[in-house]
Amino acid sequence: MSDIRFEGVTKVFDRGGTPFTAIGGIDFYVNDKEFISVVGPSGCGKTTLMRMVAGLETPTDGEVKVAGNTVRGPGPERAVVFQQFALFPWKTVYDNITFGMRSKGATKAERDEAVAYYLKLMKMEGTENSYPHQLSGGMQQRVAIARSYAIDPGVLLMDEPFGALDAQTRTIMQEELVRLARVNPRTVLFITHSVEEAVYLADRVIVMGRNPGRVREVIEIAGMREEEDWTSHPIDDVMEMESFTHLRGQVWRLLREEMGGDR
Ligand SMILES: Nc1ncnc2c1ncn2[C@@H]1O[C@H](COP(=O)(O)OP(=O)(O)O)[C@@H](O)[C@H]1O
Ligand SMILES: [Mg+2]
Repeated sequence: MSDIRFEGVTKVFDRGGTPFTAIGGIDFYVNDKEFISVVGPSGCGKTTLMRMVAGLETPTDGEVKVAGNTVRGPGPERAVVFQQFALFPWKTVYDNITFGMRSKGATKAERDEAVAYYLKLMKMEGTENSYPHQLSGGMQQRVAIARSYAIDPGVLLMDEPFGALDAQTRTIMQEELVRLARVNPRTVLFITHSVEEAVYLADRVIVMGRNPGRVREVIEIAGMREEEDWTSHPIDDVMEMESFTHLRGQVWRLLREEMGGDR
């Protein structure tokens, strides 16, 4: 069981001697093996929220619990994927994917098997001996995602992981992440500024508001998705389905209200 609980979570930063409330009291849960997307206007505290789950920031008030334990620092059961592909440039694809496994004591056979499995799943067979600079941005990010899955963490935290990719590569990555998430369900907190991406990937979408950062609304996606079975269709087709456009519109309206001051 790897659920995430935010219990009255507040985060106040010190801004040159003045306190600034980035997160103003969040109560929320992510169920075990649930995929949650988080959208919200820039500066509403999405990254801060994720960093608190990762153990890179401490709440000023309240608690973040993973699998029932209060987060007190980073841990191997929580893997993080950032926008900038943090691969080791001097290591091959094989060594990058298995880096975390190796430190957990996986055998050579287990590592071989994992690399073969993820490279096949991500349509990157034959690249195990390549170095990151020999790969496209999309391939590098696939390796980063494979690495975080390969450690077999209970919780995956992704902060705009496709933000640096071109539109076409991004679409491919979205489809692959959906496939990966269905075959290997994990508890995922996925931050994005793309409403389409949020709705397509998630079981539920959290729309955040700002000043201070808070949960504005939670939109249920999973039920709708299963009714029309999005998973067996390419993303372009899904985006034209009525169930999809309806949910996208709902998220958009909320987001636009929250971004009111930006226009
Ligand atoms: N270390 C910090 N010190 C002071 N202010 C911070 C710090 N980190 C984030 N903030 C502020 O907190 C707010 C939320 O930031 P962030 O979580 O990065 O938002 P988002 O990811 O939604 O764009 C922003 O106003 C940001 O400037
Ligand atoms: Mg951010």
